[in-house]
Amino acid sequence: MAPGELKLSENNVTTNVNDRSQHGMWSSRLFFVLAAVGSAVGLGNIWKFPYMMGEQGGGAFFLIYLFCIALIGFPVMAAEIMIGREGRMSPVNSVLKLARESNRSKNWAFMGWTGVFGGILILSFYAVVAGWIMFYIWRLFSGEFNGADAADVEFKWKTFVGNPWSVFAWFTAFMAVTIFFVARGVNKGLELAIRICMPLLFVLLIVMLVYGLTQGGLMDAVRFMFDFDFSKMKWDTPVAAMGHAFFTLSIGMGAIMAYGAYMPREGSVKSAVGIIVVIDTLVAILAGLALFSIVFALKLDPAVGTSLLFKTAPVAFGNLPLGALFGGLFFLFVGFAAFTSAISLTEPAIAYFVERFNTNRVVVALVIGVATWLLGILSVLSSNVLGEFTLFLNWTFMDFFDKFTTYLVLPIVGLVISIFVGWFVPWERVRKALDLSSTVAWIVWIVCIRFVAPLAILTVFFFTIYVEVILPLLPNQQ
Ligand code: PFF
Repeated sequence: MAPGELKLSENNVTTNVNDRSQHGMWSSRLFFVLAAVGSAVGLGNIWKFPYMMGEQGGGAFFLIYLFCIALIGFPVMAAEIMIGREGRMSPVNSVLKLARESNRSKNWAFMGWTGVFGGILILSFYAVVAGWIMFYIWRLFSGEFNGADAADVEFKWKTFVGNPWSVFAWFTAFMAVTIFFVARGVNKGLELAIRICMPLLFVLLIVMLVYGLTQGGLMDAVRFMFDFDFSKMKWDTPVAAMGHAFFTLSIGMGAIMAYGAYMPREGSVKSAVGIIVVIDTLVAILAGLALFSIVFALKLDPAVGTSLLFKTAPVAFGNLPLGALFGGLFFLFVGFAAFTSAISLTEPAIAYFVERFNTNRVVVALVIGVATWLLGILSVLSSNVLGEFTLFLNWTFMDFFDKFTTYLVLPIVGLVISIFVGWFVPWERVRKALDLSSTVAWIVWIVCIRFVAPLAILTVFFFTIYVEVILPLLPNQQ
């Protein structure tokens, strides 16, 4: 067969005979690493991680988180990349191929399917938050918050999210840019986005760090994030740390698996995973230090989540020298991070439907983009028209999509991936694919993927259900 030629097998799955994906390949291993880092570094790092550390016991939380990253994040990410690189297709078909070649049931492809729908669900609310960020880039640069106090900033925030049309417009703009890039394909779209955004992301992080460090709040920031404060730890802190490890590393979704399908054969999976995990964690810490240095320089209350980014940060930037400029740059940094994550969320679905219907990527990207956009309207309306409408447990649609994916979809898929690769794919193949020639490294990895990761994920899963669903439903907890 000619290079790049595709063959149609019995159940309509195209297989590539030349170890190349039909969707394209990253130009080099570096691009794979950058793309995966781009997917991992996102709103989770800048918006969730710093306040989680401060809120849940500082250094104590960090240690548990590192443990989760090492024992679950590392092996599961390696397994995902391995499946993708062996299959060279969308997550659904890569798993199917590996299952067939290992004489296993085709039902394992279930984990690929959850990636298809999970990605759309996550993107539907992620793009709404990214739309807020886009508006705040503009707001900060325009100097709108100069000299503002907490009440002004709160009022501006409420007026913005209270108006469905403005949130809808920014959400739509973000979705349009995302779909424009993904529709152009792996090289002309995804890789172009990575080429533009990743260098800027790192430069902006350094700029923000230098700015933050010169504002005088660094030591307080370090204390807030790293002091071992066991009194702040709750019994569900390990659950939070583990759930966050999944979200921040983009695992349990098929996104990294889809990216792995375009990874050149040369270059080792284990070192790529090491680099991705280290950079993702470093960015989270450095962004947290930069942000909290600014917040503590003005002795503001660090607050949490959405409030930290959209209420506390604008007050801080509005009252610091050159705050409009650096505030705008900070939101630009968050925007780039959100964008390079968003493009990875669509890849499992786009790759699958292109393979399934053997059709043009642009058409598929448009259809998926419109479906996600329509679904996202529910999250757009969650802060205004439907703000009072809660499904259960007082969750708005946006909360529901967030919690359903983070607490349910990611852990379940992570669990299935570790069981599939650990127990059902011939170990010789896995060892060769991961290039784990050292016996010690292999034993550590196989123990983690077979026992540690599944058991830990199961624990997370049941504890989370208990904390998030059962406990609030108990009458005396309401
Ligand atoms: N890792 C991204 C973040 O930390 O914001 C979020 C994410 C991207 C989750 C892609 C899952 C995914 F497949």
